Amino acid sequence: MSEQAFMQRTVTCGQLRSQDEGKTVILNGWVHRDRNHGALHFINLRDRYGITQVVVDDDAPASLQETAGQIKLEYCIAVRGIVRRRPDSMINPDMETGEIEVKAEEIEILSKCDTLPFMIEDENNAKEDLRLKYRFLDLRGKGMTDRIVMRHKIVKAIREYFYKTDFLEIETPTLIRSTPEGARDFLVPSRIYPGKFFALPQSPQLYKQLLMVSGMDKYFQIARCYRDEDPRGDRQLEFTQLDIEMSYVQRDDVLALMEDLFGDVFRRVLDVELPAHFQRLSYNDAMNTYGSDKPDLRFDIPMKDFSFAQDCSFTAFTDALAKGGAVKYLVAPHSDKKEFTRKYITELEDAAKVYGAHGLAWMKVQDGKLTGGVTKFFQEKEAEILAQTKAEEGDMILIVAHENWKKCCNSLGAVRSKLGADLGLIRDGYAFCWIIDFPLFEYNEDEGHWEAAHHMFSMPQAEYIDTLEENPGAVKGDLYDLVLNGYELASGSIRIHDIELQKRIFRICNFSDEKAQERFGFLLDAFRFSPPPHGGIAPGIDRLCMIISKVNTIREVIAFPKNTAAASPMDDCPAEVEDIQLKELCLKVDVPEKK
Ligand code: AMO
Repeated sequence: MSEQAFMQRTVTCGQLRSQDEGKTVILNGWVHRDRNHGALHFINLRDRYGITQVVVDDDAPASLQETAGQIKLEYCIAVRGIVRRRPDSMINPDMETGEIEVKAEEIEILSKCDTLPFMIEDENNAKEDLRLKYRFLDLRGKGMTDRIVMRHKIVKAIREYFYKTDFLEIETPTLIRSTPEGARDFLVPSRIYPGKFFALPQSPQLYKQLLMVSGMDKYFQIARCYRDEDPRGDRQLEFTQLDIEMSYVQRDDVLALMEDLFGDVFRRVLDVELPAHFQRLSYNDAMNTYGSDKPDLRFDIPMKDFSFAQDCSFTAFTDALAKGGAVKYLVAPHSDKKEFTRKYITELEDAAKVYGAHGLAWMKVQDGKLTGGVTKFFQEKEAEILAQTKAEEGDMILIVAHENWKKCCNSLGAVRSKLGADLGLIRDGYAFCWIIDFPLFEYNEDEGHWEAAHHMFSMPQAEYIDTLEENPGAVKGDLYDLVLNGYELASGSIRIHDIELQKRIFRICNFSDEKAQERFGFLLDAFRFSPPPHGGIAPGIDRLCMIISKVNTIREVIAFPKNTAAASPMDDCPAEVEDIQLKELCLKVDVPEKK
């Protein structure tokens, strides 16, 4: 078989240094920039390793001059030439190859480029949908390339960590039975069994538990997961987890493994030394102090109970408490970054209202006194309030009252987050923390029953096991989340390995024994055959890469993500399929007409 001959690269565009002076090299790459100075021709040639300046001298042969003249931006070319040091005045310290240039002797155009939809810049400022339509070009930009390389390094470091241990990397299927795990399943119709469906896994949860029953006592997988949920900045329809499960472990074993893993990965990939142990906060403390179960600990502004609410004439506060709710405050520190104007207070209030707050009460410290907002209700308590809150000149005391404790915490938590960002209080670095002692169940108001706060396979803490059914809302689970810089990075739990306890949990979550057998029969069957005690966790790889790359969405660290409307502009999917395909699957499509 004959191959199409072309000048094949001997070096990359990021490789050459002054010690390579005099070498004859061949570069392959894209024309990043192209400048003519009379007959002198400068071409910045780019590949994913860097940029090298190629020069066609003014005394170059006519044929070379002619080829150079045909070159346009993003043409893919090959250059043979000689490495030479740049004149001192031309050295570019911002470029890794900035000490040298390649004097072209021969140029070959490997392929031409159509009119570009956007310039290939370090960071592409084009509209996101245009970037995604031409993602293959968007990925040529340095920013995207660097993030994909970073992602590769992180995943590689994770794999290397596990390969040094007894963990087995095991693949689990991606065509599985539809088993509710919190989100909606993506369904795949079966051609061979008309009317029946596979589901794509929301996570390998049940399979990794089955592997424990099989004796694969330390398992990991870099696993693709699928969830039919509305996309957000930190969510995609398909995403990647580092999935882990271990037998004969307790919570602290899993936490210690993660601390060791992230310590190792951050040291090797980022040269960052993490603390040997991450701070631990109970769910209740995290909610009470930071108004979130994924608090950003890179800044302070703690929340506290506003004890003066108990005995005051402001009915919004007294009513909230009478109904079993909470009244909480924080002190927004005065700042030269933001003036606490009415307009800004309204912005903060709007942030609180997203989480259900009825309003945001405030008092300002001015000339050593409380002024404005709800001050008139607290005039006699002024000195006490100032002493207790430690609010200083120019600070604002911001208060949320709500009949629902969680809504009160979340609303003021949203105010805290906004202040952190707006006042520039967020410190650089990585603030990991564990959230533990989560409630096992949440009440689903719409459907009128309890459901699992995480998933139904998590173990209740021992002291609640005998009395689960009496007050599901009070039951704490052996659950843990790892939080990094305000994002939930990982979730996990110690699992139930007792068939009767598993059935009780199903029943509390409105799954009758029959329905549980139908949906999870294979797990319950497995649990009849001496399952070992086990537990695990799953960090989200996309979120980890997003935080490390300091970008705001996981789309920036995924090569081919879906857009904010859950579609892919590049291959235009989801898309209709041929009638014949539907027929083979015995499917009829009945799309309601748009109103
Ligand atoms: P959970 O559903 O909490 O737990 O997911 C674990 C981690 O996966 C990431 N993640 C996502 N990332 C991007 N887009 C999404 N839509 C998305 N959903 C989740 C997050 C999250 O912390 N089987 C359990 C784990 C276990 O118990 O071992 C599970 O999947 O980083």
